[in-house]
Amino acid sequence: MTQADMTQDQLKAMVGQAALDYVVAGEIVGVGTGSTVNKFIDELGLIKDRIAGAVSSSVASTQRLQALGIPVFDCNDVGELAVYIDGADEIDHRGHMVKGGGAALTREKIVAAQARRFVCIADESKLVERLGRFPLPVEVIPMAAQRIARQFAAMQGQATLRLKDGAPLVTDNGQHILDVRGLLIADPLAFESEVNQWPGVVTVGVFAHQRAQVCLLGTPAGVRTLKFD
Ligand code: A5P
Repeated sequence: MTQADMTQDQLKAMVGQAALDYVVAGEIVGVGTGSTVNKFIDELGLIKDRIAGAVSSSVASTQRLQALGIPVFDCNDVGELAVYIDGADEIDHRGHMVKGGGAALTREKIVAAQARRFVCIADESKLVERLGRFPLPVEVIPMAAQRIARQFAAMQGQATLRLKDGAPLVTDNGQHILDVRGLLIADPLAFESEVNQWPGVVTVGVFAHQRAQVCLLGTPAGVRTLKFD
């Protein structure tokens, strides 16, 4: 197989394995959600005797961790985490991200806020000059969804309710997701601060306050490490 033949799945596996270098022995590791993180969880299972356990950002990741025999702790029962490892839907050259394609953005932001360091793992297709190409996920309280959609329309964003099996998708927190197309996010910090204070918004999927300090980017030539601090 030539380097050019590497699939996205193989690039994800590559960074999932590389992320083990950032896991601190004897400590509890923060674990994100998604197909890239699933590769990392599989690797974590191979070294589970060297860690104290994990804090998880979703029901799906918790189930995968526990199936491998990795103890999962509640955020409230542990202190600051050395590291949080998670994927992204987009990441820019300053470590700002769009997340929530897997609908786990709120818990992801909570666990990220509890960690000293955010290590993002992604294939190279996720690196962008400016956030906004990927439809922005926003977790909302259902009764506020249409008003929030109108607020996005006022900034040229087209919001649609995310569906699953023909019905509104319900998150791990019992809420809904709006996916917003057409936004240009020039100032991620200001954008996140503004949207997060709209009534009914649980979490906006821009991670600027909880940006990554490191990104391990999977490329056909190997893992490229981007450092943002
Ligand atoms: C989950 O809600 C997301 O934030 C994921 O981290 C993001 O969608 C990346 O997922 P993949 O690794 O599956 O691309």
